Order: sequence, then C-alpha cells, then structure tokens
Amino acid sequence: MTILIKNGSVVLSTGAIQADVLIDGETIAAVIAPGDTSLGANLEATVDKVFDARGKYVIPGGVDVHTHMELPFGGTFASDTFATGTRAAAWGGTTTIIDFAVQKFGERVQDALAAWHAKADGQCAIDYSFHQIIGGVDDDSLKAMDELVDEGITSFKLFMAYPGVFYSDDGQILRAMQTAAKNGSTIMMHAENGIAIDVLVQQALAEGKTDPRYHSLTRPWETEAEATNRAIMLAKMTGTPLYIVHMSAKQAVNVVQQARDEAWNVFGETCPQYLYLSLEEHLSQPGFEGAKWVCSTPLRSKAERHQQELWRYLRTNDLSIVSTDHCPFCMKEQKELGVGDFSKIPNGIGSVEHRMDLIYQGVVDGQITLARWVEITATTPARMFGLYPRKGVIAPGSDADIVIYNPDGRTEIGHEKTHHMNMDHSAWEGFNIDGHVDTVISRGTVIVDDNKYIGSDGHGKYLKRGMNQYLI
Ligand code: URP
Ligand code: ZN
Ligand code: ZN
Repeated sequence: MTILIKNGSVVLSTGAIQADVLIDGETIAAVIAPGDTSLGANLEATVDKVFDARGKYVIPGGVDVHTHMELPFGGTFASDTFATGTRAAAWGGTTTIIDFAVQKFGERVQDALAAWHAKADGQCAIDYSFHQIIGGVDDDSLKAMDELVDEGITSFKLFMAYPGVFYSDDGQILRAMQTAAKNGSTIMMHAENGIAIDVLVQQALAEGKTDPRYHSLTRPWETEAEATNRAIMLAKMTGTPLYIVHMSAKQAVNVVQQARDEAWNVFGETCPQYLYLSLEEHLSQPGFEGAKWVCSTPLRSKAERHQQELWRYLRTNDLSIVSTDHCPFCMKEQKELGVGDFSKIPNGIGSVEHRMDLIYQGVVDGQITLARWVEITATTPARMFGLYPRKGVIAPGSDADIVIYNPDGRTEIGHEKTHHMNMDHSAWEGFNIDGHVDTVISRGTVIVDDNKYIGSDGHGKYLKRGMNQYLI
C-alpha cells in the first residue's frame, strides 16, 4: 500500500516545512519538497491513497512513554486493557506506548515480564514496549536487569513511595542504580518520600480528615522535592542516567534544573493533569467527587502557581517529556474503595486519549511552540527510550506513524460517553480543545479517519528498544 499525504505542513521538532509525505508499506519512503518532481511529475496518480492535508499539520504519531494498562493497584486493576487503552490512544493520535511490566517483591522479574507480554500480545491497536518495574530489589532481580537489557528493555522504574508495595529503600535504589550504570540502562524514579507520607496520612486519618483532598495535603511538595534530590544524588554517585516520572511540584523540578545545569544525566517528565488540574478546582470538589483526581504525585495548589512553572520548565527543557501516566479507575467499585478513607482510593487518572490534544492547547495558548509540541510528545520520548529514528520523526526510513492534525477543528474531550477509554467518568469534564486529530496512520495502516476507528486489535507490534540517546 502506498499513501501520499500532500499539501500539509510537516511539523518536526526542528520546525515546520511545507512538504508531501510518501508512505510505502510500513515506512516513510520520502519527504518531498514543493516543486520536487524527482519521483515523477504525477506521483499522485501512481499511489493507492491520497490525503489532502492543506491547512493541516502532519506530525509524527505521539509516543506516550508512561501508561499502566491493567495495573494492579490498591486491591483492583486499572480499568483499561491493552486492547481498550491502545484503541483510545489511537483515537487521540498516539501511535506508540511504553507500559510498565510489574515485578513485586518475591516474584521473578522474568515471570513478571512474561505476564505483561501475555496481557498485551495480540491485543494492541498500536505499537508498544515495556519498561520494567522492580518492586523487589535483590540479587536475582539485579541479575535479571542485565538479561532484560539484552531483550530490549532498557529502562527500570523504582519507587521511593508506596512502602510495603513497590517501595525500595536507599540501599536497594543504590544497588539497582549501580547495575543500571554498568549495563547502560536508564533508571526511572517515582520520587516521593513514601515513609514521611505514610506518617502524614496516618495522622490525617486519626484527625478524621478522610476526604480525597487530603491525598494532596499529606503529600506536600517537600516530599517530592526531597525525594527528587535524594534520587539525583544517588544516581550521581553511580553514574546512571535518571529520569524522574510524573513531576508536579515546581520545587522538585527546580532540583532537576540544578542537576541539568551541572550537565548531569537527569531528566524530568510531567503529565497533562499537572499542567491543567488543581487541588482547589478538582481534588477538593464536594463529597467524594474529588476521588476522580487522586493520583501520585498529587495535583497541587493552583494558588502556588505550579502550573505556570511547569509550562516554563517545558520551554526551558528542564522538563523534557509530557507523558500521561495513564492509570484509569472507574468511580464505581474502584475509586469507591476509598469512601471514608482517602488513602484507599486507587491512584491514577486516565488521559491516554487526550495528551496530544491537551498539549496542542498549550500551543494555542502561547505556552509552547508547534515544534516543541512535537518534540515533547513524540521526538524526545522516542530518543529518551531508544526508539528513534524508527519512531518520533517524519523522515525516510522511519515507521509511517503519522497524524494529520486539523488546527481549525475542535475536540470536546471531557465526556464519559464519547471518550474511548474504559472509564465511567472523565477527569477532563468541560475541556474543549482548539484542534482535532483527523487521521492516524500506524506503520502505514490508516487506523483512524474522519471520526471513525478502522484499526484492529493485534495490529500493534512489540518494540525492542535501544539505549537512551541523550547521554552526555
Ligand atoms: O497515580 C498514579 N501515578 N498511579 C500509577 C502508579 C504510578 O505511581 O505511576
Ligand atoms: Zn509512579
Ligand atoms: Zn505511573
């Protein structure tokens, strides 16, 4: 199958150019400048399908490097399967996800990874890969890290939060970082001081403070900034690259900025929820409504101006990537587990379908440029996690993962009945975007067009990854 996308504005992380894009099979065959007839004067007549993208942006498919399909958490499982979650991602212009395989204390890492392959194999609408969560650092799991790198799993997530569940102490973190420094992989860190948070949570509950908003009030910014600093210092001792996930506190990103100013291999990620949603407007809604917005790190105070600072850090590249941390739970029977005790509300928000639109709104609002939109949602994620130039760019030889984005369109994203994620509510009620995903192409196959999903479960392939391409 050959496809020609003509007359569009091709947006790359380096800027936008007028060009046509020729797809042959699963890959991009050519990016053709206006007036270039070297492939034939009437190329259009020779291809199988033509899209006229006049007035539209032609961008690399989104790469969301932080999702949790079917994550076991708090006595339940994230409500999207790999089938429903990747379909929803496709609707929103994301063509690659990297999900997290979970190893718990006492489990073999290889068995945990095999279980995640079994969940995803033959289910995905788009291409996918895995990071490995190491929930129990010991001799066996450290050895397994080396094996996984050979299998193309080149990033490992550790937790300084959730004692008794995924938590690693400083000694365990140091040992995992030493292993990563030797085998060349990247450590991803959930940086919150979980031990201190647990004390604050118990004290709040003892005082009868049980509403969802106490989730944020018992995880103050200091717990994120302290853990971020500790993780950076431990990583510095070992020389491993460090990627801090889902950052929400401006003070914590300031710590990342200082490390980056020293030219250390430290990187920060944030998520749409921290750029748009807040403690006051969302988590503090009356009754149990705020449970929809319980996630960790937590939504922070609007009055403290974290959102403005996060956008600024995205401009200065102290935050390098926007992922979703997609971890959906329904209100019914899932979030409801925490009625009367905020600490039992499963942590997570679902956004995999909305990331490209929500961050495009940052372009419309003047927060970031068009090129930076592509860079932080597609190009940098691909480079950070060893998928570039196969993913994250429109260039000859790259996979034909392409979105035709209509800046004159409009997307109402906040409706539980119209989104495609497996959730009984939306965390994005009332959000309308000045832009629209018109067409999504995954490895040369059109999977979304004209408000219809025409892809298939199992089209998505597993991706073995290389190393982080940003190391100094
Ligand atoms: O609230 C969150 N972030 N849930 C998913 C698990 C994690 O820590 O990433
Ligand atoms: Zn986390
Ligand atoms: Zn996460």
